[in-house]
Amino acid sequence: MTLALVTGASSGLGAEFADQLAARGHDVVLVARSEGRLEEVADRLRVRHGVQAHVLPQDLAEPDAARRVADALAARGLAVDLLVNNAGFGTCGRFEDIDPSREHDEMMVNVVALVDLTHALVPGMLERGSGAVLNVGSTAGYQPGPYFAVYSATKVFVLNFSLALRQEYRGRGIKVTALCPGPVETGFFDAIGTRKAAVGSFTTSEPVVRAALRALDRDRAYVTPGLGNALGAHLNPRRPRTLVAAMAKRVTRKVLEPETGRERVAA
Ligand SMILES: NC(=O)c1ccc[n+]([C@@H]2O[C@H](COP(=O)([O-])OP(=O)(O)OC[C@H]3O[C@@H](n4cnc5c(N)ncnc54)[C@H](OP(=O)(O)O)[C@@H]3O)[C@@H](O)[C@H]2O)c1
Repeated sequence: MTLALVTGASSGLGAEFADQLAARGHDVVLVARSEGRLEEVADRLRVRHGVQAHVLPQDLAEPDAARRVADALAARGLAVDLLVNNAGFGTCGRFEDIDPSREHDEMMVNVVALVDLTHALVPGMLERGSGAVLNVGSTAGYQPGPYFAVYSATKVFVLNFSLALRQEYRGRGIKVTALCPGPVETGFFDAIGTRKAAVGSFTTSEPVVRAALRALDRDRAYVTPGLGNALGAHLNPRRPRTLVAAMAKRVTRKVLEPETGRERVAA
């Protein structure tokens, strides 16, 4: 029985990761801010899959978040074999209109906590001679994202960081895979405030997480579920960067258009 730590496990893709990993027999550590929702997920996993599920409430935007998580793991005597860096959120709109502190937190959660947690947990994996890291990026990470400038840049980071680490740990017992999904029906667009922020068609968490775990099993560098998403992922890096940014703007500027009512999902 191995232990998987999933960040952002209180909803969406993270809760689905926790469920599918528990179904495979992993014990799990669940990290997010919403303690009540984490407890609900943990109870469900214990009943459904008979695994141990540990709840670790933590705001990953705090600068010492990873150290706190590592300290809590050490206090409970838990050694993590699989780290799923899934927690994250997005922002969109004209750069000057977006709350700077929200984008600061976004970088802390999407990038800083992801790197810090990897630093905290990889040494133990190396000592034990095996382990895995699964980082959740996005199709937003395949090109610059006008009106999603910070979000897409965090996901560019996640992909390149994952690809680089994968090379460092090849042959050393640690797998590193990035999941880069297109739109998925989760709380993500509630948090962003509009479904216009979605580029591409929606799917559900179940097949996306299944594809991610399959890619990790096969030691794939990254996976982009969905044909249309995979096509963009394949083509965009082959085009001139400035052209890709201009093409992306034609698609993403729809977030600036007035809402018709249907798209807005949160005040
Ligand atoms: N849904 C999509 O269309 C889509 C597409 C591409 C990539 N992604 C990526 O998928 C990942 C998961 O998102 P999701 O779609 O499952 O959205 P979601 O349902 O909103 O889940 C986001 C998770 O991140 C956690 N989180 C947010 N801020 C946090 C903080 N400060 N500290 C700790 N945890 C925090 C949330 O928990 P609490 O609120 O309880 O803290 C929640 O569990 C993200 O990295 C996102 O960028 C999503």
